Amino acid sequence: MIDRPYTLLSCCMSLDGYLAGVGRRRLMLSNDADFDRVDEVRAGCDAILVGAATVRMDNPRLVVRAPSRRDVRVAGGLPPSPMKVTLTCGAGLDPGARFFTDGESERLVYCASSALPQVRRVLGTAATVVDGGQPVDVAWMTRDLFDRGVRRLLVEGGAAVHTQFLTADLADELDLVVAPFFVGDHRARRFVDDGAFPFNPDRRARLAEVRQIGDVVLLRYALSARFGVS
Ligand SMILES: NC(=O)c1ccc[n+]([C@@H]2O[C@H](COP(=O)([O-])OP(=O)(O)OC[C@H]3O[C@@H](n4cnc5c(N)ncnc54)[C@H](OP(=O)(O)O)[C@@H]3O)[C@@H](O)[C@H]2O)c1
Repeated sequence: MIDRPYTLLSCCMSLDGYLAGVGRRRLMLSNDADFDRVDEVRAGCDAILVGAATVRMDNPRLVVRAPSRRDVRVAGGLPPSPMKVTLTCGAGLDPGARFFTDGESERLVYCASSALPQVRRVLGTAATVVDGGQPVDVAWMTRDLFDRGVRRLLVEGGAAVHTQFLTADLADELDLVVAPFFVGDHRARRFVDDGAFPFNPDRRARLAEVRQIGDVVLLRYALSARFGVS
């Protein structure tokens, strides 16, 4: 039996493979119709995970936006939005970030052992802080999430997090959206960092779906035999 959640990696990148621009302003890569698609995907998950840098830089709310989708979840005995999850090696998380303040769902912070006391002190009651190893062991984290009842996990980035899930072969599905413009600045974050990926010229991923959504395109890759089953 597989003791980790069905894990779906989701992100939007530019034509030249960047997740963001350079500088403090958040770059909107996708369009409204695709944001709504992601909202539907979120509504079908038990937890949404992003890296601590994304919490700091994008200040995302990570909630289900559509009231009708929230209502369906509540009618099914679920919280209006999925649990929020992040991971950190240090104490750079602000309890005033929208990750911690928006919505009523549970928040989990997987923290490197050495920073545990400091992160617990800074975050107080804003989140449950879990010792995840040194650094956080992502494979163990997914098993721990499974033990906490998470059966469907949505990983929304950024690059460091996507890289770890992919290289550790922990992803069942990749939903990659391509925006119709270039960032053109190597200082920006690419979709993934360097690594030994299980999908390479000798083992190609299966492209399961291509969908045009206005001016962007969604590429859905099946990364495990669980794709389409869970
Ligand atoms: N286009 C999109 O779909 C999309 C989606 C999400 C994000 N983004 C962009 O991606 C960029 C951020 O990506 P990123 O790669 O720089 O950062 P990230 O993946 O969001 O977060 C990296 C941080 O997460 C923590 N972390 C990651 N792995 C860890 C481990 N194993 N153990 C402990 N802590 C760990 C560390 O936090 P500490 O530094 O706190 O130790 C690390 O610095 C932003 O520019 C954002 O706008 C784009």
